[in-house]
Amino acid sequence: MTTRSNAARLLVLPGDGIGPEIMEQTLRVLDRVAGEAGVAVDIETGLVGGAAIDACGAPLPDDVLARAKACDAVLFGSVGGPKWDKLGFDLRPEMAILGLRSELTLFANLRPAMVFDSLASASPLRTELARSLDVMIVREATGGVYFGEPRGIETRPDGSRRGFNTESYETSEIERVARAAFQIARGRRGKVTSVEKANVMESGLVWRQTVEALGAREFSDIALEHMYADNCAMQLAREPGRFDVIVTTNLFGDLLSDLAGALTGSLGLLPSATVGEIGGEGPFLFEPIHGSAPDIAGQGIANPLGQILSLALLFRWSLRLEEPAAQIERACAAALAGGARTRDLGGELTTRKMGDAVLAAL
Ligand code: NAD
Ligand code: IPM
Ligand code: MN
Repeated sequence: MTTRSNAARLLVLPGDGIGPEIMEQTLRVLDRVAGEAGVAVDIETGLVGGAAIDACGAPLPDDVLARAKACDAVLFGSVGGPKWDKLGFDLRPEMAILGLRSELTLFANLRPAMVFDSLASASPLRTELARSLDVMIVREATGGVYFGEPRGIETRPDGSRRGFNTESYETSEIERVARAAFQIARGRRGKVTSVEKANVMESGLVWRQTVEALGAREFSDIALEHMYADNCAMQLAREPGRFDVIVTTNLFGDLLSDLAGALTGSLGLLPSATVGEIGGEGPFLFEPIHGSAPDIAGQGIANPLGQILSLALLFRWSLRLEEPAAQIERACAAALAGGARTRDLGGELTTRKMGDAVLAAL
């Protein structure tokens, strides 16, 4: 593909399992929306995860990382699968995501979760509770127990083993992600819930105190509350409407966002944007929150909406084009309102037919 100097450069990384299947439908949507909006886009593709391990022995090949750093935005599918589960952590498919987040310093993983009108009855929550769910989870993405040192597995003389990881957060890491959360809350309902376990963890205590101080110093217009992570999980299921923006650690954010996914009706619906400083320069990373779904991969039945909605976030956060973003979101809502359902939502549509429904709505 020729490179036009004013065209947006997108790096598309489908990955493993259902990744390529849902990406195919997303690229159809991209083609249509960019074409209609007159947005020039140059698409490059690359191998990551297990596919890259099989082809060249590394989950995030150097040239893919270099191209990620040079492009305007990265659209990521999903990686991982049983085939690669016995590899050491540095060599696993999941390192592709962790490597991109950390090498691009994308410390804020934004995971919006809301219930589409037509899906309120697909939520495990009572309908009126489901309708009240509209939360933005701001998950710290480059620190915490995912990256803390020391980590490892040691074997003792008696043959017993100890696996260990370190949860660690310093003030600057907490401040930058909390600042992103406060800024996002300003454009929403003006409330931040900061989530940790300050009752049992030193890192949680520093987290709480740092967020409290930042809020008092720079964001007196935002309502701030603190909550323990276990209680937060319970409150999300009991009274989801009380949350606007949740800011939390890498691990707690991972768990709470899968829970939020289930509450919307399917994990397959949730997109994410992984960004640095709000308003700063990219490249940013866009990925659904679900994984490669090995149990259904290859069958053409995965729900592509989380991936398609990640493209909407790419238009909004990287290309700063609100109308194409909103157009994609409206088309997904309209497809669902028209009854389009993949199996995870209790329907019969294939991945491709769901793509057709979104294109028809466009
Ligand atoms: P998963 O998210 O892949 O699947 C959990 C369940 O949700 C499965 O039953 C799956 O079929 C279903 N599901 C997920 N996405 C769906 C979709 N779009 N449509 C319909 N159903 C969907 O989580 P897992 O099974 O715990 O992990 C599988 C692999 O994916 C592991 O190797 C894991 O490390 C990896 N993973 C990758 C990412 C990523 O690439 N961003 C995220 C999470 C997990
Ligand atoms: C996610 C995934 C990843 C994470 C894994 C695959 C590294 O679960 O994006 O939610 O834990 O961050
Ligand atoms: Mn996850």
